Amino acid sequence: MNLRPPIGELQALLGAEAVSQDPGELLHWGRDWTRIYAAAPWAVCWPRSTAEVAAVLRWCHARGVPVVPSGGRTGLAGGAMATAGELVLSLDRLRYLGPVDVLNRSVAVGAGVPNQVLQEHCAPHGLWWPVDLAAKGTATIGGNLATNAGGLRVVRYGHARNWLLGLEAVGADGQIISELRALHKDNSGPDLRQLLVGSEGTLAVVTAATLQLAPLPGPTAVALLACPSMQAVLEVLAQAHTLKLELHAFEVFSDLCLSHVLARTGLPQPLQARLPFYALVELGLDPAGSAHQPPAGARMERWLERLLTDRTAADGTLAVDHRAAQKLWAYRERITESLQPWTPRKNDISVPVSRLAEFVVELQRWLDHSRPGWQVALFGHVGDGNLHINALRPEGMAMVEFQQACDLADEALYQLVARFGGSMSAEHGIGLVKKRWLPLFRSKAELQALGALKHALDPAGILNPGKVLS
Ligand code: MLT
Ligand code: ZN
Repeated sequence: MNLRPPIGELQALLGAEAVSQDPGELLHWGRDWTRIYAAAPWAVCWPRSTAEVAAVLRWCHARGVPVVPSGGRTGLAGGAMATAGELVLSLDRLRYLGPVDVLNRSVAVGAGVPNQVLQEHCAPHGLWWPVDLAAKGTATIGGNLATNAGGLRVVRYGHARNWLLGLEAVGADGQIISELRALHKDNSGPDLRQLLVGSEGTLAVVTAATLQLAPLPGPTAVALLACPSMQAVLEVLAQAHTLKLELHAFEVFSDLCLSHVLARTGLPQPLQARLPFYALVELGLDPAGSAHQPPAGARMERWLERLLTDRTAADGTLAVDHRAAQKLWAYRERITESLQPWTPRKNDISVPVSRLAEFVVELQRWLDHSRPGWQVALFGHVGDGNLHINALRPEGMAMVEFQQACDLADEALYQLVARFGGSMSAEHGIGLVKKRWLPLFRSKAELQALGALKHALDPAGILNPGKVLS
C-alpha cells in the first residue's frame, strides 16, 4: 500500500472540483487504449494553467508523489497508464488556442487541444497542423509531442517533432524548463525541446507549444488497389514515387483487416477481388496540368490501368473527389476499432522500406511456425516502412495466457526485426509495453546516457515512473 499525503492538500492547491478520487473517474482517466493493464491511480487532477501544473509538480516533488501526465489517452504502449497509485495529471483543461500568425505560419496552443480542434481553428487561414492521426478527435497536441506522434501522412510531412517551433514544459520540481518561442531558426545551443519530444512525460510535462503550420493540402486523389503480395505493394510505391505527383500517404492493410472492418462497420466490399494486401495511395493533384502533361487525374487513371495490365494489382478504384476519397480512407482508418474486441497484441515495427517485402516473407514463415492458427492482422504505413503486426486473442483463450504467449513470441519477433536493422517501436512509443525490449535496440552506452539525463531532470523519479527507462 502506497502512503500518500492527505488529498486535502492538493484540493487546497487547485480547488476541490479539480481533484477527484471517484472510482469511475480514476478508471476513465487512469488508462489509455492499451487495455492490458488495470488502472489503479491514487487520484486525478485537472489544473487549468501552466502555473497550476507547476504548483502540482512542486507539491508532488516535495511529497514524493509519482505523477502520470495525461493527454487524450489514445496511446497504445501504456505510456499514460496509471497502475500503481500515481496522481494522474490531466492536461485536458489547457485548451488555449492562440491567434494564427499567418506570416510566421505558426500558432501557440495549450497541451490539451485535440488535433481536430486545432485543424479547424487553422483552416480558415488556409493552414493546418499536418500530424494527421486516425484518433484526431481525441488525441491532443501535448500527447502528440510527448510521443512524437506520426500518423497517416508521415511520408509527406514527417513527425510531430518536425512541426515544433517552441515548447513550454514544466520540470519535475515545478520549474518551467522550456519556454514558448516562435522561431523558425534558433541555433543557440543544444535543443532541449527536441529532447523532450518523444520522452513520454518522463523528463518534463508539456503544457503548451508553438507549432509550425503547413498550407492546407490542395485537391488529392486516392487509389485503393488489391495486390497479391507485399512485393507488389512495394512495386506500386516505387511507381508512385516516379509519377511527379506529390505522395501524401501510402498505406497498406491485409485481407484479414478488411474482413474485420467489413464485419464491424457494415461497409460494402470496396473492390470485387479479394487479395492478400490492399494499398491505399493518396496523391496531390495539380489541377491544371501543363502543356506537356495531361491533368493529374488523367495521369493517375492511366497509371492505374498500367498497374492492372501488368498485374501488379488485380483490382483497383480511384476517388478524385473528397467524399469518395473519405469512403476509401474509412477502410484503413477503422481498422483499429474493428480489431479492438480481440484485445490484440500490438507490435509496431519498422524496417527500411527497401527490406519490407523480404521482412514480410520471413515474418509469415515465423508466424506459420510459432503461432499456427492465430489471426495476425498486418497494416500500417508502408511509405515509412512501418508495419503494425496485431496478433488477435484466439477465442476462448484467457487474457493472462494470451499475454504470456505474446511475450514469448515477441522475443523472437524483435530478434527478427533487429536482424533487419529495424525498430520495435516505429510510432507508438515505449511506455510500459515495450520497455523490456529496449536493450535489443539501443546500445548500453545510449541507455546509460538516457538514464543520466533522466536522473538529472527528475532525481526523485516522480515523472511517469516505470515508463520508457527504469
Ligand atoms: C494506426 O496506424 O492506425 C495507428 O497506429 C493505430 C494502431 O496501430 O492501431
Ligand atoms: Zn500507425
